[in-house]
Amino acid sequence: MPKETKKAVAMRILVTGGAGFIGSHFLRLLLKRDNATLIVNLDALRYSGNLDNLRDVASHPRYRFVHGDICDAKTVEALIKAHRIDTIANFAAETHVDRSILEPAGFVRTDVIGTAVLLEAARTAGVRRFLQVSTDEVYGDVSTGRSKESDPVAPRSPYAASKAAADLLVQSYFTTYGAQVLITRGSNTFGPNQYPEKFIPLFVTNALEDQALPLYGDGLQQRDWIHVEDHCTGIATVLERGTPGEIYNIGGGCERRNKEVAQAILNILGKPGALIRHVTDRLGHDRRYALNCEKVRTLGWQPQANFEDALKSTVLWYQDNPRWWGKIKSGEFREYYERLYGARLST
Ligand code: TYD
Repeated sequence: MPKETKKAVAMRILVTGGAGFIGSHFLRLLLKRDNATLIVNLDALRYSGNLDNLRDVASHPRYRFVHGDICDAKTVEALIKAHRIDTIANFAAETHVDRSILEPAGFVRTDVIGTAVLLEAARTAGVRRFLQVSTDEVYGDVSTGRSKESDPVAPRSPYAASKAAADLLVQSYFTTYGAQVLITRGSNTFGPNQYPEKFIPLFVTNALEDQALPLYGDGLQQRDWIHVEDHCTGIATVLERGTPGEIYNIGGGCERRNKEVAQAILNILGKPGALIRHVTDRLGHDRRYALNCEKVRTLGWQPQANFEDALKSTVLWYQDNPRWWGKIKSGEFREYYERLYGARLST
């Protein structure tokens, strides 16, 4: 059967971190994609987990929410058993580089130990498939060319190092136990519902409030941007058609310098360029990430979004949903913002 026409098999899937940005979009995509899959969302609802992201699917008959931590083996084992889970997609992670610089320990706990707990619970319960959602940051700074899946990992931030460690653990379960694992390495993702600590939602919401946009260093760093819906269809494709034991890069192929993205945001909102403030650079800041995505394309996937259009619709989403981000920015976020940017913005 040609790959494109192979039918998705209904799953009983545990999505961890399903109340987060990419996890919530993925969960919604799965509910739409077929009419038989049961989805259990395990989320600790820490600072970036937000049930507001899932209001529209909260009472869906094929969706269940469990409040809990992936590091808690008893909870994980019990829910795998109770819901007869056959597939796990691990989105639960601490993901923000700047937070990993301030407090690395939590990244080791959630990203490394949490993944280890899930892998072991999956192995002992005989879970059929395990997909680990990883990141292009594990390849480190890429000054030229594009990272391939066969490239060695060379992480440079505590966040990237914790994700690289988790990837190695996942691969070891394939080699040692023959576990049917898959790893996706996505590029910088953007879209609605992204916690406003990340570059695009931070700059959009700051601009909406006429606040300065803190651009690190010279602002000439490059990232390979992908819209969250493209990232999620990529993950679903790998889950359905990927070869166990393999890694798949999922990138949008839209390389942009941070400065250009900041200016594009201001242009969409009709705000002045003077809002951009060059501030002290991030420690160990990677200049460039870029992914070679030929491998995932052989599964029949390719990104659909045009960067400029997708950025515009994303900016308009934040403009139309001030309550969603206003609630976040008035809470714990303020303290974090002051800690990270206070001194930077006052000089
Ligand atoms: P980020 O969204 O943190 O993703 P990552 O570091 O994982 O790629 O940042 C994207 C880029 O934007 C990165 O080069 C750092 C830069 N950046 C700023 O210039 N200012 C900021 O306040 C933030 C959060 C990021």
